[in-house]
Amino acid sequence: MTAATRLKDRIAAELEEGRGRSLTYTDIDDDLLVRQHSPLMSPLVWDLAHVGNYEELWVLRALAGAEPTRPEIDTLYDAFAHPRKERPLLPLLGPAEARTYIAGVRGRVLDVLDLMEDGDLYGHDPLRAGGFAFGLALQHEHQHGETMLATLQLSGRPGLVRDGALPAGRPGGPAEVLVPAGPFRMGAGSDPWAYDNERPAHEVDLPAYWIDRLPVTCGAFAAFAEDGGYDDPRWWVPRGWRWRVRQGVTAPLYWTREPGGGWWRSRFGRMEPVPPEEPVQHVSWYEADAYARWAGRRLPTEAEWEKACGWDPRAGRARAYPWGDAVPGPGHANLGHRASRPAPAGAFPAGASRYGAEQMIGDVWEWTGSWFVPYPGFRAFPYREYSEVFFGRDHRVLRGGSWATHALAVRACFRNWDLPIRRQIFAGFRCARPASPEEA
Ligand SMILES: [Fe+2]
Repeated sequence: MTAATRLKDRIAAELEEGRGRSLTYTDIDDDLLVRQHSPLMSPLVWDLAHVGNYEELWVLRALAGAEPTRPEIDTLYDAFAHPRKERPLLPLLGPAEARTYIAGVRGRVLDVLDLMEDGDLYGHDPLRAGGFAFGLALQHEHQHGETMLATLQLSGRPGLVRDGALPAGRPGGPAEVLVPAGPFRMGAGSDPWAYDNERPAHEVDLPAYWIDRLPVTCGAFAAFAEDGGYDDPRWWVPRGWRWRVRQGVTAPLYWTREPGGGWWRSRFGRMEPVPPEEPVQHVSWYEADAYARWAGRRLPTEAEWEKACGWDPRAGRARAYPWGDAVPGPGHANLGHRASRPAPAGAFPAGASRYGAEQMIGDVWEWTGSWFVPYPGFRAFPYREYSEVFFGRDHRVLRGGSWATHALAVRACFRNWDLPIRRQIFAGFRCARPASPEEA
């Protein structure tokens, strides 16, 4: 079997798995599919047809030069044409029609894949090389899979809570790890499916710092809340404080305080005690930042996060993942919706980075202290609306993926971004602090 055949077989298998996931999450009553569960999110039936429309745009039209199959629906599924809150008012395809449409696109996408030749896959056309356009569609579909899970969690409806087994946590061990001063290479290397915003790779020199070995847990975050952290403006940036007061936020989203003490949470419609050993999720950037100040620390910059995650100082090279370049296995990280929750702190010793940081990939997206801005020498590809239009001082960078992220849609250099008020995403954080001269 040639390398090209192997790559094409792998892409075909991944496309099938990704589609299976989208169909599973939308295998619910039509009424739930077409309803908007929150103004923050699209109706699920929009996401479903949108993944097929995106695949049509990038594989069938941009790569293969095909004519539009249904030009009249393009604008309905253009994320820039209609903000999420308007989408339920659009004449969207119904659930059955959406499934038929995306299946039709997929059939033609597999034909295009079949016709890809060595010269395409190993040539210089950036849409073809390494199967980039297929990787774009695949990662996009998985990103919407995660979005669909956030929508289902917001709906508060029971169902789709998965109880797959996760490894046990490991209490104890060092709270933080030291990352010595020195340069590292930030950004994507040769990965053909990396996004434009991960490029170009460039050297960044950092002073020594400490970073938490593990994400901040629910138990630690509850201590902040119980210590009056939500009531003390000292810990909050002014905008965050105004947001907290206006919204009446007193705990992570989905948490409630029982009258007799003790925290409970709603998880996919199920009420349960908050597990203290689990990484906290559903906190905004403002809450993460306030916790860090309360704890006498700060959020890591995204450069600090990436170095602690992927840099191998002995080899002098960046790894795809903390543990190396091997694709994520079940002992490395909690990815791909094995269970509808993060794994307890310390569950993945085999996933540790060269510096000893754990659970950087999977479990919860981690807020960083950085704005989403371009790397020096950035060039938009294949379109400005993927990253470039979001650059600036509106969005904060998140790193590392969550339990709901598929392994294909995350790596040490992967950058995600969102508004600092967002809490419906599966996001938590870890803290950092500069090392003193003696420590360094
Ligand atoms: Fe999208």
